[in-house]
Parts: sequence; structure tokens; C-alpha cells
Amino acid sequence: MTSIRIAPSILSCDFARLADECAAVIDAGADWLHIDVMDGHFVPNITIGLPVVEALRKHFPDTFLDVHVMISNPDEMAAAFVTAGADLVSFHPEATANCHRVIQKIHNAGGKASLAINPGTSLDVLEYVIEDIDMVLIMSVNPGFGGQKFIPQTLRKLRDLQAFLLRHGRPDLDVEVDGGVSAKNIAEIHQAGANVLVAGSAIFNTDNYATTIAEMRQKLR
Ligand code: DX5
Ligand code: ZN
Repeated sequence: MTSIRIAPSILSCDFARLADECAAVIDAGADWLHIDVMDGHFVPNITIGLPVVEALRKHFPDTFLDVHVMISNPDEMAAAFVTAGADLVSFHPEATANCHRVIQKIHNAGGKASLAINPGTSLDVLEYVIEDIDMVLIMSVNPGFGGQKFIPQTLRKLRDLQAFLLRHGRPDLDVEVDGGVSAKNIAEIHQAGANVLVAGSAIFNTDNYATTIAEMRQKLR
């Protein structure tokens, strides 16, 4: 049975108070920290890099660091995030001709590997790596920014993914959804098959993180 995890995306936090913000969402009941790495090339934004992941790992030794790399060169860089302290690295198959090799590199570094699938990308990319990965990340917005609107076709994709996972003998694989998730839509997203729910603006733009996360969990019940 897959368990439900709420993963606040720190992209929407106050970066000048990064450690306090992370501590606050962890205290408020976050299961994972979702860390968005952007290179200004694969996506039109630049955010966090290796030194910040390293610092967070030192500061929060027991917290699961869920690192999402939106970068053009996962072949060279994805495994370095595991060395920096990531527990899991999601990379985009759109960014590499050697998807299987990137998975191997992440595993060899001691991390878990996940494929992040853009809204316009088919699930077909999973066909011959489904045995190897530890999670699938379904993007429900185009990557690059927080605070965007959830793309409704994602629900159909999540249902298709559940059928695919069943066919391939991996019904318990973690499925993460990222983008536009809030207390309003979290129940239908979970019903469609996601068990790891990323939320950035819906958590960090509220006054009381604990109340917001509790409301999300209530909707998931
Ligand atoms: C978008 C990032 C997301 C983003 C989600 O490219 O991958 O993780 O922070 O932000 P919200 O929850 O505000 O859509
Ligand atoms: Zn993300």
C-alpha cells in the first residue's frame, strides 16, 4: 500500500529565511521537502543548486529531501544531487537521450530515481524503465514557476498511469503530482492515483502552515 505524503515545495518560501521556513513546514507536518532545481535553460528560471541541497542536508539530517531537477544535463548533474544529500532525484526524460543511464547513475550514487513527466509528454517514456524507477512525478503545470494553475488533463493522465502500473506489475509505485495542488483539488488528484502531493504556493502563501497541511490531510481522508 502506498502511503500519502505531503511535500511542500520550498520554491514559494521566503528564501531569505530558508532554514526557518523549512523547519516551520516540517513542524507543521510536512512529510518531505520538495526542492526545485532550475537551470535557466531547460526551464526559463534559475533557482537552487548543489550548495543549498548540501546545506539543507546538514541542517535537516532526518528529513527526506525530494529533489526535482529541471535541468538540461541530468546525465552530468543528477547524481551529484544525491552526493549533495538528496534522498530522491526526479529528472526529466525530455532532457536526455540516455534516460536509463541517468537512472543507473542516481542509483549508483545511492539515491532513489524518478522520472518527471511534463504535461505535453506521453507516458510512453516509462515503458522500458518502469522496472527500474522508484517513483513517477507527473507535472500538472509546465515546469518553471510556482503558483500556476493545475492542468485538468492531468487527472486523465493519472488514471492512465494507474492502468499502466497495474499492467506492469508495479501498482504500489509512488506517484507524485507537482503544480497547482491545493486543498481544493487535492482529493480528486489523490483519487486519480497520486499519493505524493507537492504544494508550494498553496502552503507557503498561507499564514498558518499547520492549519493548511491539516486541511489537506482532512481532504485526503
Ligand atoms: C514548478 C515546480 C513546482 C512548484 C509548484 O516547476 O516544479 O514544484 O514549486 O508550485 P505550486 O504548488 O505553487 O504550483
Ligand atoms: Zn517541482
